[in-house]
Amino acid sequence: MTRFPSSTLPVTSTDFLVIGSGVAGLLAAIELSHYGHVLVLTKDEATAGSSGHAQGGIAVALSDDDEITFHFDDTIAAGAGLCNEEAVQVLVEEGPDRILELIAWGARFDREGSKLAFTREAAHSKRRIVHAHGDSTGKEVVRTLLAHVKTLSNVRKFDFHYTMDLMMHDGACYGVYLLDERKKEISAITAKATVLATGGSGYLYQQTSNPPVATGDGMAMAYRSGAELVDMEFMQFHPTTLYLPGAPSFLLSEAMRGEGAKLLNIFGKEFAGKYHPERELAPRDIVSRAIVSEMVSTKSRHVYLDLTHLEADFVRQRFPRIYSTCLSYGIDITRDRIPVSPAAHYLMGGVATDLDGATNLPGLFAAGEVACTGVHGANRLASNSLLEGIVFGARAGKAAARYGKKIHTLPDRITNPYADRPVAGHESPAEVDELRGILRKLMWDRVGIIRCGKSLSAALEHLEAWGPCLTEIYHEKCGLELQNMITIATLITRAALQRQESVGAHYRTDFPEQSATVKQHRIQQIA
Ligand code: SIN
Repeated sequence: MTRFPSSTLPVTSTDFLVIGSGVAGLLAAIELSHYGHVLVLTKDEATAGSSGHAQGGIAVALSDDDEITFHFDDTIAAGAGLCNEEAVQVLVEEGPDRILELIAWGARFDREGSKLAFTREAAHSKRRIVHAHGDSTGKEVVRTLLAHVKTLSNVRKFDFHYTMDLMMHDGACYGVYLLDERKKEISAITAKATVLATGGSGYLYQQTSNPPVATGDGMAMAYRSGAELVDMEFMQFHPTTLYLPGAPSFLLSEAMRGEGAKLLNIFGKEFAGKYHPERELAPRDIVSRAIVSEMVSTKSRHVYLDLTHLEADFVRQRFPRIYSTCLSYGIDITRDRIPVSPAAHYLMGGVATDLDGATNLPGLFAAGEVACTGVHGANRLASNSLLEGIVFGARAGKAAARYGKKIHTLPDRITNPYADRPVAGHESPAEVDELRGILRKLMWDRVGIIRCGKSLSAALEHLEAWGPCLTEIYHEKCGLELQNMITIATLITRAALQRQESVGAHYRTDFPEQSATVKQHRIQQIA
């Protein structure tokens, strides 16, 4: 049983805290290690986050026929009028050096001869996606960064430590409250500066390419402390995840379409050309909606991705992870069509930051999917997210270090903020899991790829009825995650209701047009 003592909490102190061990968190930790002791907290094992699942690659203007300006233009066009141009400039300009740095640290990207190999993905005007082991790019980058971090004596990692909340004092962040899942104890960690790199919230949806850890914890805890969240309605749905009853919705990389894979409806007919001249390589939101439309008109739950016209050896070598995963479900992708459907993939919105990852809360920085730098606008260009994590993770680390120099004292006696809260946990873990399932279905059915005022209002009513359970305190990670899922689901739904237009990934049947002036929506709760 978790203890919630009303007296002071055990306190650990460090110079800098990083919450999350994906690419953004690890880059921040590497930068911070030059300036003091760094503690990296992860709620699961270090490799469980979304970064390691990224398949397709990293978009970067490094090929002979590419230019930074082309990458800039493609990113802006995909973002549908909502990108922050300054942030995009930073991304495309700093990206190439960061990738070369990763290579210097040992990242093994695929090559053609001695040169980097580049593939193409949707809405890119050039082949500019670097990749590793065919379709395991995120895994290779995380492996490289974890190996590099291991060599840094200033960086410690605590896995399986769940961050419950930020520790705030006079409006500034001085660390976090932590649940040690194994010991079932709450403690406090103080730090001069904290970098939030907890990833996204795709697991709020029944169909998702994200791992189960993507429950929006960082956004929820930042929101509870008064951080500004922005553009929460923009959940990107990836067009192609494996659709097999009983199997997890495993990602089927856009790079497959980049290499020539076709979309077919259940009657075996190509359809992408009906919806956009770029066919399978149209922007992601368009391809996802085209698939939904085809599923509706053919009364089917999936369409097919077809690579059977490509050379079998090439397919096996180019997509080894996808090949073996599909084979484990009885699908030989060199011979069989793959049943696919869209799934929640990436939240473009998040904790609002400046170009250095600074949030509106002094002492709190954010990078990666949890943050919204404005780089992605209303629709993220494929393979820009690992790049964003790398570029802005490093910038957030540098900025947090600068901020930390000004902090000379940290709180030492911390009282337990949860002592007076009613204790929840009347539900068994199985019941909590059932509630999570209800929420995920609600989000998929009513706040999904195609929305309208009626579906969104119904979802909001349901979510708000869960409000009272947010004041209780759970003993276990799954209950705390559920609370965060309710918070973020509510914010996504409210933002989607407020945006009475269709733009990028946000499509409303009752407002199918884009308005003349698209604006960001900012949400803030004053703690
Ligand atoms: C993919 O491989 O299709 C995912 C790439 C991305 O989402 O950027």
